[in-house]
Amino acid sequence: MPRHRRCRVVLLPGDGIGPEVIAEAAAVLRDAAARAGLPLELEEHRVGGAAIDADGEPLPAAVLEAAKRSDAVLLGAVGSPRHDALPRDRRPEQALLGLRRGLGVYANLRPVKLHPALIGASPLRPERVAGTDMLIVRELTGGLYFGQPRGIQGEGDARRAVNTMTYTVGEIRRIARVAFEAARRRRQKVTSVDKANILETSILWRETVQAVAGDYPGVRLEHLYVDNAAMQLLARPADFDVVLTENMFGDILSDEAAMLAGGIGMLPSASLGEGPGLYEPVHGSAPDIAGKGIANPLAAILSAAMLLRHSLELPEEADRVDAAVAQALDDGARTADLARQGVEVLTTRAMGDAVRERLRPQSAARTQGGTR
Ligand code: IPM
Ligand code: MG
Repeated sequence: MPRHRRCRVVLLPGDGIGPEVIAEAAAVLRDAAARAGLPLELEEHRVGGAAIDADGEPLPAAVLEAAKRSDAVLLGAVGSPRHDALPRDRRPEQALLGLRRGLGVYANLRPVKLHPALIGASPLRPERVAGTDMLIVRELTGGLYFGQPRGIQGEGDARRAVNTMTYTVGEIRRIARVAFEAARRRRQKVTSVDKANILETSILWRETVQAVAGDYPGVRLEHLYVDNAAMQLLARPADFDVVLTENMFGDILSDEAAMLAGGIGMLPSASLGEGPGLYEPVHGSAPDIAGKGIANPLAAILSAAMLLRHSLELPEEADRVDAAVAQALDDGARTADLARQGVEVLTTRAMGDAVRERLRPQSAARTQGGTR
């Protein structure tokens, strides 16, 4: 990112708790850019149910264009029960799929890292989840989500639905490279997840991943069938470093893995391709708690940190945000989803403030050993 020009980040708060958590994440972004002396322009648009109501479609063409012209996109969540009855191609979720496809962000990075202060928040025993620190690398623009043909046809008992799982060697190779590159910067291990005992797509997946591994002699590769992977994630979570998998398996396994790290309110994501990156908390719109000011903004704030790191090339600022979140948790800050009984519960705003307070120079000095 050349420092002489302004950076433009498109904010897409979306539905449900999206606007509440994005407000906190945007404030963190503004603070970080200001500290780094980077002129930052934030441009907000409607997507999902909010756009269906106001503009008649989940992802208006002008919004996708704005996203394509930006440096990065920060999205809250899409989806609302009011729009559940709409045909598939007009539902709020289409905004997300349209953005992923339109931006070509094939590599979805979902870090699952247990903060020590949250070790009691997992439904699994502390000794089991201790040390959990993995990166799920999910293929995001292929597989069942986008494969053709698809659809529902016919009448009565002959009514028939079809989805197509398809992958090319090229699609598998580029996501495998992302996983191996990440493993090189981490603990040098890739677990590739497939269903190669049943599916042709998985046979090609396994062959291709194995071939890519040849270029990364320092990285250990293991293959797991997806059903076994679902079990091993709970049995030995700390053994996983980089988990590489296709779109649908990654969708399912990342929700499962969230429960290792304090719940889905803690999981950020980055979706990367050749152009602007798309950053979003892994949690959904949570309509049941929307508008109450009680949602956990940390997944959105940590997504903003990933945006600072990967799209704005401000790794020090990203580190500071990660450290501020860790400090807030260490100091006992808890939203309702993280709190044990009897503990003071913070609102969405108060949790955002707790993080921003710890980003200020004097507290950064305290957490980073006195350097200013
Ligand atoms: C996710 C979500 C999305 C997905 C939905 C909302 C389309 O579950 O990002 O994991 O299935 O990819
Ligand atoms: Mg999901």
